[in-house]
Amino acid sequence: MTEHRFPEEFIFGVATSAAQIEGGARDAGKGESIWDRFAATPGAIADRSTPDVACDHLHRWREDVVLLRELGVDAYRFSLSWPRLFPDGRGARNAAGFEFYDRLVDALLAAGIEPFVTLYHWDLPQALQDLGGWGERGTAQAFADYAAAAASVLGDRVRSWTTHNEPWCIATLGHEQGMHAPGHRDPREALRVAHHLLLSHAWAMDAVRQTASQAEVGIVLNLTPVDPASSDPGDLEAARQLDGLFNRWFLDPLFRGSYPADLLADRVAWGDLAEAALECVLPGDLRAIAAPLDFLGVNYYSRAVVTAGPDGRPQSVRVTREDQLTDMGWEVYPEGLERLLLRLQREYPIPPLYLTENGAAYGDAPDGGGRVADQRRIDYLRAHLLAARRAMAQGVPLRGYFAWSLLDNFEWAHGYEKRFGLYWVDFQTQERRPKDSAHWYRAVATQKALDATAWQTT
Ligand code: FCB
Repeated sequence: MTEHRFPEEFIFGVATSAAQIEGGARDAGKGESIWDRFAATPGAIADRSTPDVACDHLHRWREDVVLLRELGVDAYRFSLSWPRLFPDGRGARNAAGFEFYDRLVDALLAAGIEPFVTLYHWDLPQALQDLGGWGERGTAQAFADYAAAAASVLGDRVRSWTTHNEPWCIATLGHEQGMHAPGHRDPREALRVAHHLLLSHAWAMDAVRQTASQAEVGIVLNLTPVDPASSDPGDLEAARQLDGLFNRWFLDPLFRGSYPADLLADRVAWGDLAEAALECVLPGDLRAIAAPLDFLGVNYYSRAVVTAGPDGRPQSVRVTREDQLTDMGWEVYPEGLERLLLRLQREYPIPPLYLTENGAAYGDAPDGGGRVADQRRIDYLRAHLLAARRAMAQGVPLRGYFAWSLLDNFEWAHGYEKRFGLYWVDFQTQERRPKDSAHWYRAVATQKALDATAWQTT
């Protein structure tokens, strides 16, 4: 059946990020990141853990490249740790950090795996946070300088570059809701952060292109379809607002060169928030932000269903049975992915797309025989790949899919309690063990098909 087959050139990959797997938080010259600092704050991380050791990938990367080979993937999406390269965020380089990524990239290429590099997956150097972090325009300039340095060392071998991973999470979870580093609760700052992230994306994209002429550069957004809980006008209004904040606040400047007018009007209604949103936008910024992308990365996990909260603001509600939720409490909703991709195609002048993250947290552990039977993860990945394939059949230019994640890892404020890996990790011994989903994904990635695929556990 054709809908179960992917084109030969379609890329199957897996994704990770530096702070979630590397460990070595203080090793080999790395500077402190905002996640190192945040994790040390009492109550910040659910299991009181830290990213200090994580999957010890810093020391076990060779072994992990072997896992990637075993998986048969075409590509590996990972992030560079900015404070490992520039311990103070700018100025002096840490040679050991550059060497680490240099060797990793060489090993990937030798294994026939294409590196997809993300420049910023949330681990800002603490030294820059001390100067005001993403709330300050100067951080955007520092980011562009760091991007140029990374591209000058890796750009001869790395073709695919992503500037930011999920600016919504950085701005909102980190600066408005306080759940992520740096743990601020300041809506005004969050708006400034969002703008500086987009601006720094534009500057970094330019810097990478200037340094590495073969580079393809994009940004990764976490896009989330928002459905109203009912047809009640209040719920429809809540859905408009949340869709605006989640999705359009980033898509519109990138593809239309403006922030969404309806949201700006809302913010005016909220008082001086509007000023905060706009005062840091200088002439020329929006034109720069709308520079054409080589690709857009989409991270998709679930949808949101909203109602009007008591204060008139959108409030998420749960509409599904408990057994349709992952361990994150996220609804399994593959139809949302098909709808999202079609919407992007309909409403925005999109470049080629990659699904840069998709996956599920389930806690299945090794059984007596050592097998990790995670059928629910296989079902989740399969259903989402089918949804993606349906969107492709309707013309969506989707070029690849990255499962989140290669390994169980440090899941931010959840610590090590939420396991997204295709490989199970024993965090005491650092043993890695393929889950059933790893065997299944290998069959899919190597056959570029979801049907046939006899896969075996070993
Ligand atoms: C995304 C992040 C990624 C991981 C997954 C579960 O928001 O980009 O690092 O935490 O969620």
